[in-house]
Amino acid sequence: MITKEKFFKRTLTFTPGVRFFHWVRAFSIFFLIFSGFYIAYPFLTPNPNPEPTGFLIATFRSFHVIAGFLLISVSIFRLYLFLSTTRKTNEKVYASDLFSAKMWIGQIKNYLFMGAHPHVKGVYNPIQFFAYLILAILVLIISLSGVILYYNVYHNGLGAILEPCFKWLEVAVGGLANVRKIHHITTWAIIIFIPVHVYMVVWNAVKHPDGGADSIVGGYRYQEVAKEN
Ligand code: HEM
Repeated sequence: MITKEKFFKRTLTFTPGVRFFHWVRAFSIFFLIFSGFYIAYPFLTPNPNPEPTGFLIATFRSFHVIAGFLLISVSIFRLYLFLSTTRKTNEKVYASDLFSAKMWIGQIKNYLFMGAHPHVKGVYNPIQFFAYLILAILVLIISLSGVILYYNVYHNGLGAILEPCFKWLEVAVGGLANVRKIHHITTWAIIIFIPVHVYMVVWNAVKHPDGGADSIVGGYRYQEVAKEN
């Protein structure tokens, strides 16, 4: 049997913190979509019961809000990691690819099977970076509208602190009914993002095996090199 030795260069793509927060956000978003749709259309109702125990919608809403604040906290910390990292391949460095027409054209050609993958400065290509920027804006919109819905349901404690902070925004968008609509429509925008994101990750992993789709789990990507160095 002939065995051929291959050598790979191991590069840390995502730090443990980034990976952990990616999955916390992914699972909280799945749960928020499910529980949010239940709140919008409560398709299950408890059996009628004379005892005050059948508060299924309130229970769903409580867990929705818990997951919502988890998403908000993790997203704020993720933003902090984005801004504070000093790693060489950090995301701020390759944000500059975003403003290069050559990179955009090269990447579009690559996606259309018309050219090689352009040399990106970091982990994300400009289209990917742009998509993640849009997702961050969607998370910001759904979080702000969620917080407004929250203080209109829970008037005491945190709700009493948040109301004076965000009342202006509620008024600016035309009232609570519009906030609910924005929250609901943003849910659909996020739902559209998810399959596109998963498809692109898998596509990249298949077309460029060293592209490192699994690096969001293991952290490293492995690029084949000529010999051990
Ligand atoms: C990916 C994130 C999220 C998704 C997909 C999501 C989805 C939804 C959906 C579909 C609804 C029902 C809207 C309707 O009645 O049509 C809802 C309601 C609600 N959401 Fe979210 N949400 C998210 C994040 C948040 C956050 C961050 C908060 C705030 C902490 C939040 C708080 C609420 C509240 C308080 C309600 C209204 C409950 C009620 O009507 O009593 N959500 N959400």
